[in-house]
Amino acid sequence: MATEAQAQWVLTATGRSPTNIAVIKYWGKRDEALILPVNDSISVTLDPDHLSATTTVAASPAFPSDRMWLNGKEIALSGGRFQSCLREIRKRARDVEDEKRGIKIKKEDWEKLHVHIASYNNFPTAAGLASSAAGFACLVFTLGKLMNVNEDYGELSSIARQGSGSACRSIYGGFVKWCMGKSDDGSDSMAVQLVDESHWDDLVIIIAVVSSKQKETSSTSGMRDTVETSPLLQYRAQTVVPGRILKMEEAIKNRDFESFARLTCADSNQFHAVCLDTSPPIFYMNDTSHRIISLVEKWNHSEGTPQVAYTFDAGPNAVLIARNRKTAALLLQRLLYCFPPQENNLDSYMVGDKSILSSAGVQSLADIEALPPPPEMKTPTQKFKGDVSYFICSRPGAGPKVLTEERHTLIDSATGLAKG
Ligand code: ADE
Repeated sequence: MATEAQAQWVLTATGRSPTNIAVIKYWGKRDEALILPVNDSISVTLDPDHLSATTTVAASPAFPSDRMWLNGKEIALSGGRFQSCLREIRKRARDVEDEKRGIKIKKEDWEKLHVHIASYNNFPTAAGLASSAAGFACLVFTLGKLMNVNEDYGELSSIARQGSGSACRSIYGGFVKWCMGKSDDGSDSMAVQLVDESHWDDLVIIIAVVSSKQKETSSTSGMRDTVETSPLLQYRAQTVVPGRILKMEEAIKNRDFESFARLTCADSNQFHAVCLDTSPPIFYMNDTSHRIISLVEKWNHSEGTPQVAYTFDAGPNAVLIARNRKTAALLLQRLLYCFPPQENNLDSYMVGDKSILSSAGVQSLADIEALPPPPEMKTPTQKFKGDVSYFICSRPGAGPKVLTEERHTLIDSATGLAKG
């Protein structure tokens, strides 16, 4: 029998995981329940200071059920995806002892202990920035810490995959490959790190968060429709992607920006072609997305060699990867010229690494007004005020980590509930 003191304990762990952006896209599942893809994919992990999920998981004999809060609001844990992650981590749980507090949990006890989960994204959840990738990677990583699961990152990646496919890549920093695997049970479908975040640290990543009134098709239903109706998807998955994966691995290894940019743009464009090839067709990009592609293509062409790569996920936001800080500053001048802010607030128009603004010579709204039109654009160059909500400036970043400071803990250890 547990004593009164033992019955009251709340044990917590807190972790932080980054989001990631695919440069060779994942689109289409060969198994819906296990989330097994039809092709390999490659991503870059973003700096967690700019785009990440922080999650506290707590266990206590006083909890009557599993509960979760996302960004401060309680959400239902009924979805099979959360349950799959919880079940797989519980299966691998080991003994835990906190001598100071007199807490002893045997590995078989974890099956009976309920958990409370509180998660917070440091970027808008609804902005279409792969928040579920960061969220499920963080959940699996942090549950693994709480339950003292063996630190096998491949296995954690495979479990995170069962929450959200692309979450398996957020288990690592730097550049990451999700190997689709061959087995029917999904045991070999997991991510591996290609290189860590220090390998190619000149890269600067600027995300244009594009204003959109349109309700987007969810990735889950969009992928299903594509698999059922697009003849182009088979060609892409079987004939195009395998070669591109090899070339992309080579480009990353050699820090060959020209090849990297050509492959990234081509793969994004083919992904959106596959969406258009779906019946009914899926439109993720909008006019603003198309204008950004055109701006980058014209500039790259005028320079003779690519300066910037663009990639778009299942939404209109542009992810732009510049070869170094100098090109990122020139890119930003072009973007700010074409897409000046609607609100008179420069500070909220650039988030993440704000210092890129001064690298671009922009200190004030007047500096944006004074920017010259990009020379490679046709004159007069149109401006589209308010079509970009804001920009995020980031870089390749590190994988998940444990946070130990009390101020990061999202669950009150006295009540076991999410902090207000
Ligand atoms: N979906 C979006 N954000 C999430 C998070 N932080 N944790 C779990 N699921 C999420």
